[in-house]
Amino acid sequence: MAEDDLTYLTYLHVPELLALQHHRSDPPHPEELHFIIVHQSLELWFKLLLHDLERIIGALDADDWSGVLVLLRRVNDVMAFGLDQMRSLHDMPPWSLQEFRSYLGTASGIQSVQFRELEVLSGLRDEQYLKGLEVLSDDGIPPAVTKRLGQRSLAEAHAHAADRLGITDWAGFYADPGPNGVFYVVCESLVDYDERWIRWRNEHVTLVERTLGPRTRGTAGTAISYLQRTTRYRYFPQLWELRNDLSVRGGGELVE
Ligand code: HEM
Repeated sequence: MAEDDLTYLTYLHVPELLALQHHRSDPPHPEELHFIIVHQSLELWFKLLLHDLERIIGALDADDWSGVLVLLRRVNDVMAFGLDQMRSLHDMPPWSLQEFRSYLGTASGIQSVQFRELEVLSGLRDEQYLKGLEVLSDDGIPPAVTKRLGQRSLAEAHAHAADRLGITDWAGFYADPGPNGVFYVVCESLVDYDERWIRWRNEHVTLVERTLGPRTRGTAGTAISYLQRTTRYRYFPQLWELRNDLSVRGGGELVE
């Protein structure tokens, strides 16, 4: 298509985009459109997050701290407003969800491939989590996720950047970053990223409790305890652990 013919609608494929919301309920339930749009828009934001995470990994590898910070700021913003968009579902009357839920069959967010890609690209390698990936779908680990498992993760790129700077004593570095102050800000922005995931997971569990109830089985068959367990995941455990060491240095005591 010639550039002169290009319009907002053709450039963004708006008609195609707006034709993708297919309700399953029959007759169409008035609340189902909201449910579909929130999920679809979150998937679009996941796509941008994956794209930007790859760029952040590249910037970390190039010791380009300002490049990392500019991109991480947007990634953290996207995580925050993705959460706000999900929040709009908290207002859905619980009975409305029940009225169209049976039409969803076994469809569940647990099957979101991009969500798994994000977890893996961020650096989640928890043993139980990896085992869980194999049973997520009847066809095994989706190829896109397998590919991500073979890719350099954000956590790895961060650890290698710290190695290059000679950081071995994390508490010492946090107590006095010396000439590596900008890297300290990078580390804290990664903690912001981790924190936003914790918030996402907690809000999602709360949403599930509020709309479905704390003892209702999900469409993928899980109990709420499954989602609760995921709230303990951290992509940068080292950056959380060092706070314990700082507490000890400050005279605090650790519990078992
Ligand atoms: C009223 C709204 C929602 C309800 C009732 C709900 C319910 C659930 C339940 C029960 C699960 C556990 C798996 C299962 O047995 O089905 C789950 C997982 C999941 N949901 Fe939702 N959900 C809602 C909204 C959303 C939204 C807006 C998203 C955004 C994409 C989302 C993404 C996910 C993801 C990624 C998982 C897998 C989490 C993990 O395995 O760590 N959900 N959801």
